[in-house]
Amino acid sequence: AEHSASFGYGKIILLGEHSVVYGRHAIATPIGLTIQAEVTHQEHGTELVIARWDTDAAYDPIGAGLAEQVTALIAERLGLAGKGMRVDVFPHLPRASGLGASAALAVAIIRAIADRFGLAISDSEVSSLAFECERIVHGTPSGIDNTVATFGRSILFRNPNMASDAAAPEIADIVTPGPIQIVIGLTGVRSLTSHTVGIVRAAWEKNPARYEAIFSQIDELVLAGVGALRRGDLAELGDLMNMNHGLLGALQVSSPELETLVGVARRAGALGAKLTGGGGGGAMIAVTEPGAAESVGSAMRQAGFVTYLTEIR
Ligand code: PMV
Repeated sequence: AEHSASFGYGKIILLGEHSVVYGRHAIATPIGLTIQAEVTHQEHGTELVIARWDTDAAYDPIGAGLAEQVTALIAERLGLAGKGMRVDVFPHLPRASGLGASAALAVAIIRAIADRFGLAISDSEVSSLAFECERIVHGTPSGIDNTVATFGRSILFRNPNMASDAAAPEIADIVTPGPIQIVIGLTGVRSLTSHTVGIVRAAWEKNPARYEAIFSQIDELVLAGVGALRRGDLAELGDLMNMNHGLLGALQVSSPELETLVGVARRAGALGAKLTGGGGGGAMIAVTEPGAAESVGSAMRQAGFVTYLTEIR
């Protein structure tokens, strides 16, 4: 159909980024911000057109021709290599901000191409192909971003064998008694996940035992988080987020701007605040008492940052 937008969801990681790359659990939830794509007829060659970002007027969600590589890989895997097509991408997610823009981009393009050429493709096929695209962009993705970008549900995720192509991630739905409001804060500092994942990788290679211990501690926080979410225990969830942020600091993936935002949110009464996604810049999240999200968000905006509200459901 003419305007049936194909899209991929942006996401936040509630607990467990980085350690999820080492086979531990993480919890992620989709956000209302998406990337959309549309494919139209073109006689020859593939043309990729990326509209301006709503948010910051940068053109390319992942930069440096990677979107072209991703598009070519998708066309090839769908048996359409060399077919003429024009792919328009409409990003409503800021780039390089820890909100999963690259996975959302891949999912949107896969769905738009499949739709245009009448290919039946299941959600799990979409997710697997987006995972291959994430490998181009990130190197060693855990698979959590493409999963949430595709399915658009809150999940507990674990990829037990990152090294194997055949590894099937374990995915379970997250249950909450009602919607839980989350404030997202953007540092405005772009940071590539491949870079911070590389920092953690280098440190882990130097001292695997020490880093494995931190990853396992984070894993325990994530599993406790599943229970806190099920009970709607926001104070416990906040504590777990604060501790997870401390351990992410130990992994050296925080940044001065993230620390500022986390501090502002906590002083404004947030029950917990932490960086989300790759870190090194990008975004942070805060959980508040019911009804307090607006005032915490307002304190963050007064400190000069862009905020979004989302809900875990
Ligand atoms: O920065 P984002 O939105 O791509 O999130 C990355 C999450 C990591 O755990 C750091 C990497 C991964 O592949 O899971």
